[in-house]
Amino acid sequence: MNHINENQGDILIVDDVPENLQLLFTMLTEQGYEVRRVLNGKQALNVVRVEPPDLILLDIKMPELDGYEVCKRLKADETTQDIPIIFLSALNDTFDKVTAFEVGGVDYITKPFQLQEVIIRVENQLSLLRMQRQLKAKNKQLELVNQELEAFTYRVSHDLRNHLNILNNITYLLNQKYSRKLDDVVQKYIQFLEEESERMGEIIEDLWRLSESKSNYVNMVLNSFNLSVIVRKIIDKFNIEPEIKQKEFIIEPDVYVRGDQGLIKIALENLLDNANKFTAKTEKPRIEFGQLKKKEQTVYFVKDNGVGFDSKKAAQLFTPFHRLHSNEDFAGTGIGLATVKHIIERHGGRIWYDAEVNWGATFYFTLG
Ligand SMILES: Nc1ncnc2c1ncn2[C@@H]1O[C@H](COP(=O)(O)OP(=O)(O)O)[C@@H](O)[C@H]1O
Ligand SMILES: [Mg+2]
Repeated sequence: MNHINENQGDILIVDDVPENLQLLFTMLTEQGYEVRRVLNGKQALNVVRVEPPDLILLDIKMPELDGYEVCKRLKADETTQDIPIIFLSALNDTFDKVTAFEVGGVDYITKPFQLQEVIIRVENQLSLLRMQRQLKAKNKQLELVNQELEAFTYRVSHDLRNHLNILNNITYLLNQKYSRKLDDVVQKYIQFLEEESERMGEIIEDLWRLSESKSNYVNMVLNSFNLSVIVRKIIDKFNIEPEIKQKEFIIEPDVYVRGDQGLIKIALENLLDNANKFTAKTEKPRIEFGQLKKKEQTVYFVKDNGVGFDSKKAAQLFTPFHRLHSNEDFAGTGIGLATVKHIIERHGGRIWYDAEVNWGATFYFTLG
């Protein structure tokens, strides 16, 4: 694509009437634009494909390929669909504005042409184009920065995990080999070390999963599978922890989904882990998994009757490290829901919730 500055741009005029062509050509060239011209639709398509202009002024009434048809074809082609098209029409032509917009035109100019009007309409489109290009370039930059950050998180959490393992090994050795030689205070300190490093390990693990869930290191493999079976397996692990009282689990059987099984499992582990955690102090804890058929779409949900939260304070819920409960009440890192959101969105789905303090929380999601 051409680089365009203020008052510059590469414009293609398509009109089967040579006088019209000449008039517009002169007007626009005098304004400093670079102008090319062709006499019919076929030529226009060829020229655009070889060297795409920044803007096309396209006559509607032309023999063979009319303007609407040319426009449709350009819009159907990925390489030319972003080029703005302004239609040209004579006042006495049967000109259908609605069709002009429907086929993808951005504006129209009626003949006889008025210099000021033509220039304003052309300049409007070109300045829009400039802004779009700037935005695109900014987006590209942002994407790169984001990718770098992701790679960074991935690396850092990986390295930290290795170092933490070494620390863990040393405290383990201290405990095993020297504990009898150490007085109570030192033993207490070692216990702190162990607890802290366990917590650090959780954070690192969660961060690693977060970066894994959104990074391009991991390609998605799409399969159809029975999500109910996975949910059952995750839940079975909760119930064997002896300190946790038996909970009621209601799982809709045979809920089939299509997606990356590994990633979706991580998402469900997080949602169920939350449901489990936030019902820990509930009288008769109940956790539900199932699906709702809404029009064309299936909505999946994980529902609990735990402590819930205030939806009004939950705007940042899916942002990493954002928690609505204190670590003393319910331990956690605040990374889980961010991970879930990334996974759902990578599948082209959406996630949202419904919650109320002391009534529990329901997380809903779709998978594209
Ligand atoms: N089922 C739930 N019931 C109540 N609060 C929840 C539930 N799920 C998530 N939350 C709130 O959202 C916060 C973020 O969740 P998450 O990212 O999984 O972090 P973590 O579980 O480590 O605290 C939680 O700390 C909690 O305040
Ligand atoms: Mg969590």
